[in-house]
Amino acid sequence: MSLRMKQIIVAVLSLFFLGSLLIVAWIEAHKHVPGGRPPAVVTGVNKQCVSCHEDKTPVIVAQWRDSVHAQKAIGCYECHQAEEGEPDAFRHEGHLIATIVSPKDCSRCHEKEASEFLASHHAKAAQFVGSLDNFLGEIVEGPLAAQNGCWQCHGSPVRFLTDAAGNVLRDETGKPRFDPATWPNTGIGRMNPDGSNGSCTACHSRHVFSKAMARQPEVCGKCHMGPDHPQIEIYNESKHGIAFRTRIHEMNLDSPTWVLGEDYTAAPTCATCHMSATRNQPVTHDVGARISWTLRPVVSTKLENWEKRREAMKDVCNHCHGPDFVNAFYEQFDKSIELYNEKFAKPAQRIMNVLREKGKITPTPFDDEIEWTFFLLWHHEGRRARMGVSMQGPDYTQWHGFFELAHRFYFELIPQAKELAEGDEDVLAVIEEISQMPEHQWKWKGVSKEEIQKIQQFYKERYGQ
Ligand code: HEC
Ligand code: HEC
Ligand code: HEC
Ligand code: HEC
Ligand code: HEC
Ligand code: HEC
Ligand code: HEC
Ligand code: HEC
Repeated sequence: MSLRMKQIIVAVLSLFFLGSLLIVAWIEAHKHVPGGRPPAVVTGVNKQCVSCHEDKTPVIVAQWRDSVHAQKAIGCYECHQAEEGEPDAFRHEGHLIATIVSPKDCSRCHEKEASEFLASHHAKAAQFVGSLDNFLGEIVEGPLAAQNGCWQCHGSPVRFLTDAAGNVLRDETGKPRFDPATWPNTGIGRMNPDGSNGSCTACHSRHVFSKAMARQPEVCGKCHMGPDHPQIEIYNESKHGIAFRTRIHEMNLDSPTWVLGEDYTAAPTCATCHMSATRNQPVTHDVGARISWTLRPVVSTKLENWEKRREAMKDVCNHCHGPDFVNAFYEQFDKSIELYNEKFAKPAQRIMNVLREKGKITPTPFDDEIEWTFFLLWHHEGRRARMGVSMQGPDYTQWHGFFELAHRFYFELIPQAKELAEGDEDVLAVIEEISQMPEHQWKWKGVSKEEIQKIQQFYKERYGQ
């Protein structure tokens, strides 16, 4: 064999050797980690937890391995550890743990997120006893409707089963038994055994606890949907939702930082507008920090410090739109809320008040048909109209919103109130005064011949009839 030939063989062999080294290194770096995450770091007592749970609950361990926590050596015990005397603590394989990991537990390492969250309406969402909605769920419908409906979004107080003397029932290992009517539950304002409120898993599903998931609109859509608060439907209909679905691969959802205008530009999600960072403001876990109105009650009002909150939201919009565009949007929004308030909500509320004062309806909620009419008017249609306009869902503003609202007002609320009045002068005077309002004249005074001709002309020109 010539020297040259030997040199060629050596060169080829070294290339093979180097190549296989590279392949081995690549496989090593990507071992067991879907999505290319570095491997989990398992330390101390977690070795026991992980090795046994790998067998007993393999998916919990796999999800944890996929989390940032696993890379940073935050194991099962760091979260589930408990202290002697805590109401839900129990000894498990030699270690004192609790099943529920509450915002208070998370706050040991995430103080900022937890305190912002605890200051928000989200953390108070389980405190709805006394509301009309609660009366509906518990009494009119039945307690199970409240447990499996309301409580799964709002959260419930988590309770333990007790014996007749009030002692907590425990299983043979000493583990306290949760009352299955109250757990599992990851409602946003859950009242935890340690006295803290809320559930971080409502948005950061266990055991992955990812930021990427919480940035997706679907996370909010579990609760923010349906006939009385259709935010996810409105978003899906809006140009923002369309841009998000079309360009989802450009959203950079997995990025460690997610600053609007720097890490992504394609579309805003719920988190972008209500929580995430911009160039000028950090992430907030208080979802109320950027809203200026409350769109939930019978009559909408502006919140305390509404100007400051609105500036924070406008800062988000201004990354993608010009200031004139954004200001004009807010003018459209404010005027629509005033339309709802002045034309429908306040008059309807006056009618309900006078009927109640004059004893035409009982103090019991929902036993008179007109109370259902009024509830549908503000709680369903009225909210849909207001929320539709706040987030650019024109079909929710109009056909699911103001259209239904007008029908409910003119053809149900007013006729039902007249019938209930039974000739009572005070009630009739209120209805009369409302029918004299310029915006209601079309109905009680009729419209001009010219107006009617305009409509006829329109159909003639368009359809020839
Ligand atoms: C030898 C096996 C084994 C070890 C070690 C172990 N577990 Fe468990 N764990 C189980 C089994 C089996 C269950 C389900 C039955 C039960 O609740 O006892 C369970 C249940 C749990 C539960 C849920 C309890 C509930 O209310 O349903 C938690 C939380 C938990 N383990 C955490 C841990 C933590 C944290 C560690 C480490 C400190 C650990 N486990 C160590 C076997 C183990
Ligand atoms: C970042 C904190 C965190 C870490 C780390 C963590 N958990 Fe959990 N775990 C939670 C939370 C939060 C819940 C939900 C409890 C609830 O609200 O009901 C939970 C629930 C559980 C449950 C009961 C729920 C069920 O589906 O039965 C088990 C079992 C459990 N964890 C085991 C583990 C094991 C095993 C590990 C380690 C591989 C681990 N956890 C690591 C936070 C954590
Ligand atoms: C013992 C400390 C500790 C506890 C307890 C803890 N975490 Fe973490 N968490 C961390 C660390 C460390 C990181 C990584 C931070 C980083 O890399 O900047 C992290 C990261 C996160 C992230 C970001 C994940 C991502 O995709 O980048 C979320 C979300 C999170 N934690 C939620 C929680 C929640 C919810 C709880 C309670 C159920 C909790 N953590 C409990 C230490 C902890
Ligand atoms: C699908 C999840 C879901 C269900 C089920 C649900 N809610 Fe709600 N509820 C919400 C959301 C989300 C809001 C906030 C709406 C908004 O801000 O636009 C809300 C708002 C409320 C409010 C107004 C709070 C305020 O500060 O003005 C009350 C009261 C209420 N709900 C009680 C109930 C009761 C009682 C039930 C059961 C009969 C129930 N909800 C069922 C998700 C839900
Ligand atoms: C309403 C949904 C929601 C709830 C509830 C929630 N988070 Fe978050 N969280 C988010 C979103 C969205 C992000 C990502 C923000 C971003 O990066 O744009 C996030 C990010 C985080 C991060 C990463 C912060 C960073 O700067 O990288 C941590 C840590 C965290 N959350 C902890 C918690 C803890 C602890 C709780 C409970 C006290 C909690 N979260 C409850 C939605 C939520
Ligand atoms: C598990 C259910 C649930 C999830 C998930 C959820 N919310 Fe909520 N949200 C609620 C409830 C219930 C309320 C009403 C609380 C109250 O006033 O009693 C609410 C209220 C709000 C409010 C009004 C706050 C205020 O101060 O008046 C905003 C804004 C909001 N949520 C945004 C979001 C966003 C954005 C997400 C997703 C990142 C989200 N929510 C996820 C249940 C949820
Ligand atoms: C383009 C930005 C933007 C996006 C995207 C967005 N919102 Fe909003 N949202 C707003 C604005 C603006 C308001 C009205 C603020 C005000 O009152 O000044 C609002 C109001 C709200 C309210 C308050 C309703 C009330 O009862 O007062 C809730 C709840 C809410 N949004 C939830 C969501 C959810 C859930 C999503 C995603 C499905 C979402 N938003 C997507 C901008 C946005
Ligand atoms: C990440 C960038 C981004 C942010 C943030 C953002 N928008 Fe948009 N917005 C868009 C895009 C993209 C469109 C679609 C433009 C088009 O179709 O020509 C749009 C469209 C609109 C439209 C027109 C709706 C329609 O149906 O044609 C309005 C109004 C609007 N945005 C208002 C707002 C307001 C108000 C905010 C803040 C609360 C906001 N936007 C935040 C990107 C954004």
